[in-house]
Parts: sequence; C-alpha cells; structure tokens
Amino acid sequence: MASYNFLEPYTFANGATVRNRIVMPPMTECSAFENGVVSNDEIAYYRKRAGGVGLEITGCANVSELGKGFEGELAVTEDRDIPQLAHLAAAIKSRGAKAILQIFDAGRMTTSAILRGEQPVSASAVKALRENSETPRALSEDEVEAIIKDFGAATKRAIQAGFDGVEIHGANTYLIQQFFSPHSNRRRDQWGGSLDQRMNFPLGVVEEVRRVVKENAPQSFLVGYRISPEEIETPGIRIADTLALVPKLIESGIDYLHISLKQVWQTSANDETDTEPLVEKIQKVVAHKVPLIVVGQIVKPADAEKVIDAGFEFAALGQELIREPNWVQKVMADDEATIRYELSPSDLDELNINPPLWDFLNSGFKKTIHFSHD
Ligand SMILES: Cc1cc2nc3c(=O)[nH]c(=O)nc-3n(C[C@H](O)[C@H](O)[C@H](O)COP(=O)(O)O)c2cc1C
Repeated sequence: MASYNFLEPYTFANGATVRNRIVMPPMTECSAFENGVVSNDEIAYYRKRAGGVGLEITGCANVSELGKGFEGELAVTEDRDIPQLAHLAAAIKSRGAKAILQIFDAGRMTTSAILRGEQPVSASAVKALRENSETPRALSEDEVEAIIKDFGAATKRAIQAGFDGVEIHGANTYLIQQFFSPHSNRRRDQWGGSLDQRMNFPLGVVEEVRRVVKENAPQSFLVGYRISPEEIETPGIRIADTLALVPKLIESGIDYLHISLKQVWQTSANDETDTEPLVEKIQKVVAHKVPLIVVGQIVKPADAEKVIDAGFEFAALGQELIREPNWVQKVMADDEATIRYELSPSDLDELNINPPLWDFLNSGFKKTIHFSHD
C-alpha cells in the first residue's frame, strides 16, 4: 500500500479524528431546489466523493434570504431545510468522511435577479469591481446583528442535521470578507472604521457560532473559518491585515483555519518583491495552534505530499475531486495510473455532474478544470 504522509489520520484538539489529511473543499454545485432545499442529486454527488477524503465540506449554504449568491445554492435559512440536510450529512458520514457545512452570506456578490427583485446588501453602498455588479444597500446596525444571529441559527440547524462541523465562509469576497475589507466597508459605526473595528463582524460571527456550538453540539463538533489573505482593490485587504486577524480568530476558538487561494504556493499580488508564499506567512503566525487547510491546484499525490511535508496539516483538492471522486482510494490501492486528471463530457453521468454545474464550470473554470477533447 502507498505510504504517503497525507494518508495519516489527524486528531483535532477537541478530540475529533479524521482518517487522513485530504479535504474536499467547498464547491457549489448549483443543484439545490429553487428554495435552497438539498436535492437528491446533490446527495448522490457528495456521497460519490466521500469514500476516501478525511473531511468533506459542502458548497456554501446561505444563512439569510438576502445572502443567497447563486441559483441552485444550498440554504440553511429555515428549519424546513433540516430533513434534507440530514440526509446529506448521513450520506457523507456513511462513507467515512466528516461532514462539514459551509455557512455564508453573499453580501454584495449577488444580484437583484437572484434575490427575486430585492437589492443586494453589504457593509456599505459600494459596488464590487466586477462587470455587471450592482450597488448594494448598506445594512442597518439592527440588520448586522440579525445576520450574526442567522449564522448562529444556521449552525444550530447543522447540528440538528447531524453535521460534524460548520465552516464559516470568511473568504472569496463574500459578506464576512466585505466587513473586513476597507474597500467594501466604509462604515463609521462599531462595525467599521479602524482595522480593529472591521474585525468586529467576522469575530462576532465566530463568537455567536461558538456560543451555539457550546450549548447544542457534542465536544467534537468542528468550527472552521475560511479566509482570503489579500485583495487587489485599493483600498483593500493586505496580508498584514490578515496576519492581524488570524490570532484573533484563533483566540475566538476556531478549530481550523482554511486559506483560500487559486494556487497554494502563490506570493503576494500586491508586492512583487516579496517572494515568500502567503501560506507560509500565515503558518508562521498560526504556529500550529490550530491546523491549517491549504488549497489551490493541488492535483497529484506529489502536490499533496509537498503540502504535508511543508508542515501544513491538510491539503484540499477541489477541481481534482470533481474529476476523480476516487482519488484517495486509487492512491491507497497503488493505482495512481488510473487517476483522472481531465474531465470528459462522456463521464458526466458517472460523476453525478448535473447540467448547471457543467455550465458553471464552463463559464468560470475553463482554464483549470481541464476538459478532455473526446
Ligand atoms: C465549481 C466550484 C464551486 C466553488 N464553490 C465554492 C464555495 O461554495 N465556497 C468556497 O469557499 N469556495 C468555492 N470554490 C473554491 C474552491 O473551494 C477552491 O478553493 C478552488 O476551486 C481552488 O482549489 P482547486 O484548484 O483545487 O480547485 C468553488 C470552486 C469551484 C471549482
């Protein structure tokens, strides 16, 4: 049998043990019902990919109605969502992976079409720098507090549905990041202004989620947090801001930190003279106080091994697990030669890939999903 270090189990400080260091990161697959209830197609999609990985994190699930970012996205806004979420958690766990629900709010990164006529909301009324973005409405202080409570209520539903944990989506330009960013947050109340005050919303969400977990979940329930280390906007989040936030997140009691990058070893997009990978800068601050998940074009077994050998606890393989659900099993069986590194249209049924996900991959991930030409 293969003897990679990434096949070793890992035990979190709260006692939760996972069978290996390979993670399926959150990937929206656009196949929930229009109201956000999990479809049976999605359950089949996740079950298919849960047979080898240690942790399987679902695509983002919106915690509030105005937080929906995509058509076909999972919702965790109402108790109505719990029964199908419970089937999803059970399907993932039945194949030996830990089931983690990613909880999120899109903020300004949505449209009034997706919100069925409602205006998107954010920290401030500042448009995102992308084509066709809409100017959001600034949330009132009461609404900010209500969204923090929504993250707590979503966590309670995840616990009731039998998930092993939640991942707070603080990355990829969505609402939590929008509060941390000086680009999207121009507030002058307690939720904005100084760097410290821009941390109040992210830390408020973690505090509320931890409170709900403490009251309702078993000791081994995991609370993860996903960050994007930098933004390219000016003003925008710089790595120094992130290195100030990370210790506060750790103090607030997260169980793991997940660093979202397009390429795991990428260096600063804002300072070309700095050659140290962003993940290494963060690792120095984290210093193993919590485990780190890193992601971004980790595709081959050697790529994952390099990550573990560099001292990171977990390697997440996104698009590769879309292409090859049995990646871990093939590695363990010394069958690396049959690992698929391309996505063929003729495999879509076998891979449980629905037309909306196929369209999403075609529109947003053409350069990295590696379509085959058959
Ligand atoms: C189809 C697709 C959907 C995604 N949806 C989410 C999501 O819901 N939440 C999130 O945090 N990241 C999302 N991502 C980003 C991935 O989690 C991951 O960070 C990214 O794909 C880079 O990893 P990779 O190179 O291994 O694919 C998505 C990526 C893809 C390809």
